[in-house]
Amino acid sequence: MKQNVLITGCSRGIGLEFARQYAEAGWRVLATCRRPQGSSALMDLQERHGADVEVHGLDVRSAEDILNLARSLREHPVDVLLNNAGVYGPEDQGLGSAEPEAWIEVLKVNTIAPLLMAQAFLPNLERSSRGIIATVTSLMGSIADNGSGGYYLYRSSKAAVNMVARSLAVDLKGKKIISVVLNPGWVRTDMGGPKAPTGVEESVSGMRRVLDGLTMRESGGFFHFDGERLPW
Ligand SMILES: NC(=O)c1ccc[n+]([C@@H]2O[C@H](COP(=O)([O-])OP(=O)(O)OC[C@H]3O[C@@H](n4cnc5c(N)ncnc54)[C@H](OP(=O)(O)O)[C@@H]3O)[C@@H](O)[C@H]2O)c1
Repeated sequence: MKQNVLITGCSRGIGLEFARQYAEAGWRVLATCRRPQGSSALMDLQERHGADVEVHGLDVRSAEDILNLARSLREHPVDVLLNNAGVYGPEDQGLGSAEPEAWIEVLKVNTIAPLLMAQAFLPNLERSSRGIIATVTSLMGSIADNGSGGYYLYRSSKAAVNMVARSLAVDLKGKKIISVVLNPGWVRTDMGGPKAPTGVEESVSGMRRVLDGLTMRESGGFFHFDGERLPW
């Protein structure tokens, strides 16, 4: 039987590459993004794979849209929920520049949505024999690694989602559902920019390898794309 992966933020970058690689590997991909018609790469992928790539519109800032999508997909098992959608926020996020409204926007996408997705799709994950909630975080969310300061909005949103994922690991242990956070590295995408050292294919294949090898023992962990454990 085919494995099923549900991914947020598939229009481009890391999310699109996750969708591509899982589809190539023979998985059934539930690919979501804000404006499916705006991503020709995702529409091409769907055309190539037919029913194995289902595309759904989803703006993860909307709690109502998340619940509606969960309702429409209630018959689908989900083996891996990939909380990938993310925003960096305003260019200038140094001391003295923080604006509450911009911060709230970043938190909605990076921190709140992953928990809303996990809550809404819990019944789908329970239908899997090895359900995984994988949240794409960043090393910039590591408190232990923060030696350079700044980037208040993005850093705090990722540190907070790390805690969300850790609580999910504790709360879902009894249901045998794994929750981890993944650092993709610094990746050449619209967010990472052209100078990033890691290509999207390498980052995503590394993260898929990490996910393939997970057992309950690793639940609650923070992993680099190469499998190394990262400090909180
Ligand atoms: N690239 C890096 O170096 C790097 C490093 C560490 C962590 N990350 C994390 O990796 C993840 C993917 O980043 P990326 O590099 O692929 O960034 P990207 O190229 O900027 O892509 C971001 C994706 O998130 C989607 N998104 C943003 N807001 C959304 C919303 N409200 N609802 C649904 N989708 C939304 C975007 O959709 P639209 O096309 O509709 O905007 C896009 O598909 C993020 O969580 C990011 O924080 C990236």
